[in-house]
Amino acid sequence: MTTRTDPFHATPAGPNAMVIFGAGGDLTMRKLVPALYHLARHRLLSDQFAVVGFGGRDYTDEAFRDHLAERIDPHVDGGLDRDLWAWLAGRLHYVRGRLGEPGAFSRLVTALDGVDADRRTGGNRLFYLATPPEFFAPIVTELGAAGLAAEGDTGWRRVVVEKPFGRDLESAEALNGALKGALRESQIYRIDHYLGKETVQNILVFRFANGIFEPIWNRRYVDHVQITVAEQLGVEGRGRYYEGAGALRDMVPNHIFQLLALTAMEPPGSFEAEAVRDEKGKVLQALQPIAPEEVIARAVRGQYGAGTGAGGERVPGYRAEASVAADTETETYVAMKLLVDNWRWAGVPFYVRTGKRMPVRLTEIAIQFKRAPFMMFRETAVEQLASNTLVMRIQPDEGISLHFGAKMPSATLQIGGVDMDFSYTDYFGRMRSTGYETLLYDAMKGDATLFQRADNVEAGWRTVSPILDVWGALPARDLPNYAAGNAGPSAADELLARDGRRWRPLAP
Ligand code: BG6
Repeated sequence: MTTRTDPFHATPAGPNAMVIFGAGGDLTMRKLVPALYHLARHRLLSDQFAVVGFGGRDYTDEAFRDHLAERIDPHVDGGLDRDLWAWLAGRLHYVRGRLGEPGAFSRLVTALDGVDADRRTGGNRLFYLATPPEFFAPIVTELGAAGLAAEGDTGWRRVVVEKPFGRDLESAEALNGALKGALRESQIYRIDHYLGKETVQNILVFRFANGIFEPIWNRRYVDHVQITVAEQLGVEGRGRYYEGAGALRDMVPNHIFQLLALTAMEPPGSFEAEAVRDEKGKVLQALQPIAPEEVIARAVRGQYGAGTGAGGERVPGYRAEASVAADTETETYVAMKLLVDNWRWAGVPFYVRTGKRMPVRLTEIAIQFKRAPFMMFRETAVEQLASNTLVMRIQPDEGISLHFGAKMPSATLQIGGVDMDFSYTDYFGRMRSTGYETLLYDAMKGDATLFQRADNVEAGWRTVSPILDVWGALPARDLPNYAAGNAGPSAADELLARDGRRWRPLAP
């Protein structure tokens, strides 16, 4: 991970041409081009840079630029600056083509030779697969066949692969196999946009750049950990994709496992990509396998019914969303109890939950410390004794807080819970970003720290695949089991209650 205290003082990425497959799609317009624009504003792109969009629509370079200019305004910080846009737009090109279409990849080769000559991009190429997942392997195969994948004297070649990376262990292994047919592992950048979030990167800095937390960051002091990724939105027109995914596939082996790995990993020997990814991999490999007969007790699925949306309006249940089957069993909520079988964490549960149509949007990691021996405070109700909780808030209100007990002003001894709170915005102001800036910049620099390695992805699937198998075989009869705007099904509360614990409240 490139350390940047001030983005203006980071050095620009070197010369390169970025090829976007799926250039006419949503991701390009909402995230990728706005992220490039933000990078350009901070002078982090080389003058010797160009983009070649590849897609099925019939655009000229001009039409492609206009299509983007008309749409990206709401996605860039502070509105579109004309001069800056002119700088970037002049570097945007387009090649129309479809996979398997004779001549399509030779047009791409010609366009790349053109930008190499015009912009002196030095033959360095970043291929970004912003397409539906079924195209990942075929695109890489065609890149190989067109001679675009092999690295030689003519510059580097890297491929950024979007999620979802497979839909279970078998398909993830097959996809890794297909990619490795044309590329070396060091050329593959598997993206997880959670790793582009500043506060997610800060977990490592918080843990390892400060001496006071590490000594208590283990089973002797930590009672349990709660990881919450609650979304207020529903499936937002993505019913077709979501029907084939569900909350478990969509969020757990990728985003939630990344948060868990960063929270639980051992200090790496350095911040080099392989050192960090080795330690993350060890945590994921140490996740206790969930046997089929334990799945029902350790994993809860939920689906939202009709209820209230973010603005208090009535919203339909998941089964009434577009492109969703009326009797679908796809889950929109999942809660799990995970255990990390290593010396640091043995016996400390990691409870994770994620869901759509929750009462709030909130992503946080809460480290719940063990309660102090309370003999001294015999007269005090145990519930009043605050157990210490350290909360890393990832979004939307980024920050870190520590909850502890304090004497309340009164003649008798009364203890109240208070918070020490650090808010990102108060210290550093708010800088809007798409989360893709760091990731694109790092990929251009060849820094793979924030990208997933094949073994890390497979370890994640290894843990969730048995759950998917059992759920597939045993229909859930109680769906929908939470109303939109509620904090999930009651079975999720029971999951913690059985251990004498409860979820942190979601609603304020
Ligand atoms: C995506 C999922 O990967 O992450 C979406 O496919 C989800 O379903 C999104 O809404 C959440 O990302 P963020 O950055 O809004 O928390």
